Amino acid sequence: MTPEQSPITESELATLRADTPGAKARLHLDNCGASLMPVPVITTMQAQLQREIALGGYVAQEQQSDAHAAVYGSLAKLLGGTVEDYALTSSAVDAWSKAFYSVDFAPGDNLVTAFNEYCSNYVAFLQVAKNRGVDIRVARAGTDGALDVAHLESLVDGRTKLIAIAQVPSSSGQVNPVADVGRIARAHDVLYLLDACQAVGQLPVNVDEIGCDMLTGTSRKFLRGPRGVGILYMNARARARLEPVMLSNQAAAWVAADRYELRTDTRVHEDWERSMVNELGFGAAIDYLLAIGPARAFARTQALAASLREKLALVQGVVPTCPADATAAIITFNKAGLKAADIKARLHAEGVGVQIASVVHTRLDLEARGIDSTVRVSPNYYNSEAELERFLALIDGLK
Ligand SMILES: Cc1ncc(COP(=O)(O)O)c(C=O)c1O
Repeated sequence: MTPEQSPITESELATLRADTPGAKARLHLDNCGASLMPVPVITTMQAQLQREIALGGYVAQEQQSDAHAAVYGSLAKLLGGTVEDYALTSSAVDAWSKAFYSVDFAPGDNLVTAFNEYCSNYVAFLQVAKNRGVDIRVARAGTDGALDVAHLESLVDGRTKLIAIAQVPSSSGQVNPVADVGRIARAHDVLYLLDACQAVGQLPVNVDEIGCDMLTGTSRKFLRGPRGVGILYMNARARARLEPVMLSNQAAAWVAADRYELRTDTRVHEDWERSMVNELGFGAAIDYLLAIGPARAFARTQALAASLREKLALVQGVVPTCPADATAAIITFNKAGLKAADIKARLHAEGVGVQIASVVHTRLDLEARGIDSTVRVSPNYYNSEAELERFLALIDGLK
């Protein structure tokens, strides 16, 4: 076993937990909603806020220009690709929309997606279907519940402008076979937009291995950064094909009275005005994970998830609601006789944070499986085994 793969030890876990002020008073199991920030993220943000208080936002930014430039390098180290391939946006949806709406769909074109696609992405599909005559083609689940990749490939034809799927949906722990889809996208020379919002920070994600042209994610979930920052990865192939649907003074220079020049890197999709406090905090979050060793953190998160999934299913009255193939650190369930919202409220009163996933988040999947709403729990590597035992006992005791 290489040091990059060695398990996180008890004493390291104690340090990680001491680094997490929020974990002292609360059992936080909503890391796929918004995770708890560790101390280096908090102090980085506080320091930048102090600079802004003392110097004003512009000078404070100029003083941290190297640290800010390093955030793009940290992203490339974590996710692959090059520094030029990354832009920072205000959210994952902002990143995804900037990529999606730049595709020049024409009447008769189609896009291919999957049955467990995220709500925000799907409403954008419905909008281009309505306004631009685009055909939405949905790859189904196979008999095992997993994405049927052969079906997905059968939907691709000469009018397919885009393949757009999520790596992990927001309301279950399924992991779509994203590299298989990458091979299909390459074979058919179709652009591939991957929503990795729920995968980044809990699973190994490498854009070169996946073969996606565009990938979107967020700071606040498993990566443990602040709210208000999204990730857009877009490779040179996609940049060559897509002019941003909206331009800003960050995207284009006004070089003559009748002419602009676009940036050539993915920052062509950025706004000029952004929160340096948040973006520097996000950089600290990525560096924190890189220092732990992403493979080690991911292995612990996945092991906690597997154990929680298994033990939860054994609690009397618990009805697991993830599909059978689910393995990621998003675990959904209901309990007989109780509403998901009541379970969330009663856990909150005990100092335990969980979320609700509902049919509005991934309608095609949940509707087909007859689920209206379900409790969603999502451990991260800093959670302890003792916390999971406490959670299981609380669920067992809910009547
Ligand atoms: C699969 C998926 N994609 C996208 C998003 C949206 O992320 P954001 O709210 O940061 O825009 C979420 C949020 O939960 C998600 O679960």
